[in-house]
Amino acid sequence: MASVVVNGEQQQSARAGRSLLSFLRFDLGLTGTKYACGEGLCGACTVLVDGQPLRSCMTTVDAVAGGDITTIEGLATDGELHPVQQAFVDQVAMQCGYCIPGFIMTATALLGREANPTSGQIREALAENLCRCGTYQRIEQAVALAAEAMTGAAK
Ligand code: FES
Ligand code: FES
Repeated sequence: MASVVVNGEQQQSARAGRSLLSFLRFDLGLTGTKYACGEGLCGACTVLVDGQPLRSCMTTVDAVAGGDITTIEGLATDGELHPVQQAFVDQVAMQCGYCIPGFIMTATALLGREANPTSGQIREALAENLCRCGTYQRIEQAVALAAEAMTGAAK
C-alpha cells in the first residue's frame, strides 16, 4: 500500500508495482496525463512530484510514496486556468493537444525555479518533450508569455 497526495488529496494504491501513469489515469480517472511512447522518451506523461517534473510512465506509485503529485488537472484554481495554461491558450500553442499537458507541467516546473527564463533556458527545459504536430515555436512563445504574466515583467 503506497500513499501519495494527488492534487491536494490523499490517495492510496493497493497494487504493488503499479505504474504511476496507470494509477493516475485508470485508478483516479485523471486522464489529462497522457500515455504516448511509454518509454520515457516523449514527455507526454509528465507530472510534478514535489515540484519536479517526472515521467509517470517510467515510475511506480511505490517509488514516489509520500510524494506530493500535481497533474494537469491540479493546476487551475477556483475555475481559473493557471497562467501557464492560459498562455498556451492565448498563443494557440495546441494543434492536436496530446503533448500539451506534458509541456505545461514541464514549463510550470521551469518557471518555479527560474521566473524569467531566457529563450535558451526555455528550449533546454523543453528539449526532451516531443510534439508530433511541431508547434514548438508557439510553445516557446507561450512559456515566455506565462513568465511575463507571472512576474509582471516586460520581456
Ligand atoms: S509516455 Fe512517458 S515519456 Fe512518453
Ligand atoms: S500539439 Fe499535437 S503532438 Fe503536440
